[in-house]
Amino acid sequence: MAGSGRRPLVAGNWKMNGTRASLATVEGIRDGLSPALLEKIDVLICPPATLISSCVAATYGSPIAIGGQNLHARPSGAFTGSISAEMLADLGAKYVIVGHSERRAYHHETDDGVHAKALGARRAGLCGIICVGETMEEREQGRALSIVRAQLAIGIPKGATAQDTVIAYEPVWAIGSGRTPTPAEIAEVHASLREMLDKLVGEEAAKIRILYGGSVKPGNARELMAVENVDGALVGGASLVAEDFLGICNAYA
Ligand code: PGA
Repeated sequence: MAGSGRRPLVAGNWKMNGTRASLATVEGIRDGLSPALLEKIDVLICPPATLISSCVAATYGSPIAIGGQNLHARPSGAFTGSISAEMLADLGAKYVIVGHSERRAYHHETDDGVHAKALGARRAGLCGIICVGETMEEREQGRALSIVRAQLAIGIPKGATAQDTVIAYEPVWAIGSGRTPTPAEIAEVHASLREMLDKLVGEEAAKIRILYGGSVKPGNARELMAVENVDGALVGGASLVAEDFLGICNAYA
């Protein structure tokens, strides 16, 4: 949002999509971002863990950052199949998504677990993107604000800074559905999250970015990114196609 002093971040979450053939998408994004745009915004791609290394290589020398989609809270140990923040950092990742609603829904991640993972991200020098969001049922019950505020309050590490923390508001019902809240509904949640952030981390709150995510597309990005307190986007489906992801980045052109 212009005038906030916060640099927008457009982040792509590929989820469980992509093989080595998808490096062409990263190259397309890399080559399609204009230097003028890259002066204004940060761009991040979170591919599956199997592609982090090759995506880091493909974007070497460009300002595009690569991130993980999940992490284990502990640095190492007997946790078969898990990946730590240190391992992601070792590959060249700079960010990691923490507590995405799909992790909460399908892998039973709790707010306390999200907190532990956010601490793990910080320990390894990664920026954690802490996701919060209500279900449609919770919204209909008038509980959207209390849900996301509690998720934020429990999830965020004490003393979080703009360097180690980004918040993403992603209504569960907007993810992958083609439906989005109205700009007024997004503004209400983002204002409430920023006020909560202020309570939690004081002055630093004004510097911490709050992204919106859930069915962000090239056709609605400009309207959604113009909402007050929206400092960028977390993009799922549309980040799998270079042209679409570039269309969203260009909302800031
Ligand atoms: P979507 O996903 O853009 O496909 O709705 C967003 C997300 O899950 O981060």
